[in-house]
Formats: sequence, structure tokens, C-alpha cells
Amino acid sequence: MRGRLIQGGSCKAKSVLLDGLKDHLRTIKRSGRIVFIGRGTSYNAALATRPILVELSGIPITMEVASDLLDRQGPIYREDTTVFVSQSGETADTLHALECALENGALCVGITNTVGSAIARNTHCGVHINAGAEIGVASTKAYTSQIVVMAMLALAIGGDAISNQARREAIIDGLFELPNIKVKEVLKLDQEIKDLPKLLIAEQSLLVFGRGYNYATALERALKVKEVALMHSEGILAGEMKHGPLALVDENLPIVVIATRDACFSKQQSVIQQLHACNGRLVVMCSKGDAASVSVCGSCRVIEVPQVEDYLQPVINVVPL
Ligand code: M6R
Repeated sequence: MRGRLIQGGSCKAKSVLLDGLKDHLRTIKRSGRIVFIGRGTSYNAALATRPILVELSGIPITMEVASDLLDRQGPIYREDTTVFVSQSGETADTLHALECALENGALCVGITNTVGSAIARNTHCGVHINAGAEIGVASTKAYTSQIVVMAMLALAIGGDAISNQARREAIIDGLFELPNIKVKEVLKLDQEIKDLPKLLIAEQSLLVFGRGYNYATALERALKVKEVALMHSEGILAGEMKHGPLALVDENLPIVVIATRDACFSKQQSVIQQLHACNGRLVVMCSKGDAASVSVCGSCRVIEVPQVEDYLQPVINVVPL
């Protein structure tokens, strides 16, 4: 964020400056559609920022898994802005999708971590996430940094309309508070939740229920459990619970429910009640101070995290997960 977020002052508004995009912002704002393309964690990060992108840009936004887009030969139009999200900047399917977008005349934007990578070189413009070299495959710092960069992208596209000024300022303040206040605070949970992995280590599977701002958090968490703990795990859209997943719930299967405060909170409370009624073995993640409102059973394990602006909550929630 350093050098890109402007704190504002007595006569200066809070704003975002993305140098790598400034010559193309007009074209992006006029595009008929913005298509985000990525794989794995990078796709999940894009999905996590869809709500803020939709609200601030006012432009139709679609999300594409690069391999699926290629399999379907999904259309990309001249009027589209395509955004390629990739930590390495070298992932094959994402690169092939970029070639198609270039052939079809779309504006191509890269969001990568790797300076000089194929995606950084071949896109028209872009933003580096500056997360430092990726050492471990789990990609957590890339995920959180990609979300931050795409939130700044949403602010840049959204411009300075008076109608959303208060919202924009709250998001910018929230971004400033993320690293040194909120993430620092959530890292202190380390001791408190140390026993949780031990309780789960012998299990075969773990379900993670999320929705709205935190559906992507559920997907990303499940991906990490598969990749790092080598255990089956599935991220589930909580709104779909009754349409299949509920059949799996019993007293043995561990389930994580993400229920931090946002517009979906009361719906998640009712999901917790229904899972509890089926004897679900629950770990609930909620906002600080909400333990009593989510622990219907009194016996479910609760992880309380600091509350931030709804759009930025995925950055906080993914850390203990
Ligand atoms: O380098 P990329 O972001 O394009 O890689 C895409 C995926 O392979 C990657 O995000 C993968 O899912 C993560 N390393 C998983 O933790």
C-alpha cells in the first residue's frame, strides 16, 4: 500500500494512486465488463474482492477460473477489460487466457507478484503486489496482498463520486489499519488456538461454511487444508447447506463456520443453529464480542477475530484459518 494510498489531510482527499494503471483508467472505467481470470488461490482472492468491485465500479464484473474459461472457449470481447491475477505471473492456463484476450482486442491488466514475469510483460498495464518472494506453496501472503491490491483497484476504478465518498474513506482507513493494528491483533490468537490442529489431526475431512464476503475465505481455507495438511476439505457456500451438504453432517465431522459481522450475519446464525440441530461438531469464527450470539450450544468452539470493514474482513479471517 505504501506510496499508493494517500492518507489525505486538511485540503487533500484520501485517495489511491496506482501508477501502473493511470494511463488506462479511463478505458477501464468505460469498459462493458471487467473479467477477472486466475487459478487456485489467485482466483479465490479475486472472488473475495468481487463485492467491493461490483459496488464501487458500477461495471458488470465476472470471475473466471482460467482453465474453465479455456475449456468453454468463453467469449472475451473488445469492450472487455480482462484482469489476470497470478502470484508467479507464469501459470500456463492464465497465460493462454491472456493470449486469447490479446487476440480479441480486450484491454489486459496484470496483477502479479513477479516483476518481469510473462504476465507482467505481456499485459498492457498492471499492478505488482510487492509481497516478496514466495517461499512456501501455501501462498498466504500473496492471497492477502492480492486482496489489498484489488481493493485499491476497486477504489481507483470507482473514482471520486460524492455518492460513495464516505464508503471510500472508510475502506481507505480500514486498509491503513490492517497491517499494524488488525493483523497484528489477530496473530496474537496463535497461542489461544494452538490446540485446535491437534483436535483435527486424526480426522478424514473438514467442511468450511462461508457466504457473501467470506465465501472465498471458505474456499481458500479448504484449499490450504488439502495442500498443506493433506486432508480432504471442502469450502461450502452456506446458503446451499440444505441442498446437499447437510446430508454429511453428524457428530463426527468437524465443521468450521465463518460468521463474522456483516450483512449475512443473521443468516449465518441460523446456519449454526441448523448445524447444531444435526449434532454438527462446530468451530465458529465470529467478530470480537459475538461469542454469545453464535455459540447456540454453549459447547461449540469459538474463535473471535477483530472486526474490520466488511470488504477487508477476509484478510483478517484467513490468518487464523
Ligand atoms: O502463480 P499463480 O498465482 O498463478 O498460481 C495459481 C495457483 O497454482 C496457486 O494460487 C495455488 O493454488 C496456490 N499456491 C495454492 O496455495
